[in-house]
Amino acid sequence: MKSLPSSREGAEQFNRVKLIKVRMFNRIFHSSLKFAFGRMGFYKCPVARKIFWNLQAKYIDEQWGTLKIDYDVLKDIISLLAVYHILDIGCGCGRLFPLYESLRIKEVIGQDISKSALNIAKERYNYSPYEIPDKSGCIAISQGENIKLINLPISALDFPDSYFDIVISNRVLQHIPLNSIESTIETICRLGKFVYINEHSDTDEISPNQYLFKYDYVRLFSSFGFIRGF
Ligand SMILES: C[S@@+](CC[C@H](N)C(=O)[O-])C[C@H]1O[C@@H](n2cnc3c(N)ncnc32)[C@H](O)[C@@H]1O
Repeated sequence: MKSLPSSREGAEQFNRVKLIKVRMFNRIFHSSLKFAFGRMGFYKCPVARKIFWNLQAKYIDEQWGTLKIDYDVLKDIISLLAVYHILDIGCGCGRLFPLYESLRIKEVIGQDISKSALNIAKERYNYSPYEIPDKSGCIAISQGENIKLINLPISALDFPDSYFDIVISNRVLQHIPLNSIESTIETICRLGKFVYINEHSDTDEISPNQYLFKYDYVRLFSSFGFIRGF
């Protein structure tokens, strides 16, 4: 006869079932969200895009928040270029921040349109809320004051030309719709001396959809004077 589980085993089993239920709920919720925003065309509206990414923030963090697959390549690039100022556009929950801290970068601006994603970063790394009322859009600052979280659209970032040694965009430009991709890339090219991008592009086999776009980045960046790719 099967023995009854001990109370600890019972609790573990209960937690496992709860976790599976939460994961199933998350999957269904986010598939419905993608359907609504994608197929029904809500993603075309800037306000809806903000809501979309706010609702996605926790899920993205759970799926990819601890990924360090690109740390080595970024470490090599940052070390090679002697970087002091970084702009991480669409930084999300600050997945790359431990890398920046380990490299002792003087100043990092982590920008995202999703306040929920930035709030996850703020809690995770114990950043202080930024309360000085100004137009910079800064919502939090790291303990060492070298990383700032900014909740503004890319086009609204107020920094001098070539202020950043490198602008980093990991899986962000691919989510920017056709009507604003050129102006976004123009801003990035204005703000950065170098640009690192890791995006689905027009040569990838993945199918585009209403919130995932494929572009010819070599052409786009070339048109703003960035002509050398690796
Ligand atoms: C797939 S996640 C990538 C997060 C992060 N770059 C990383 O590598 O972990 C896409 C991120 O882009 C942000 N995003 C989407 N559209 C954006 C826009 N127009 N401006 C800034 N961030 C945007 C989302 O809020 C989300 O955090």
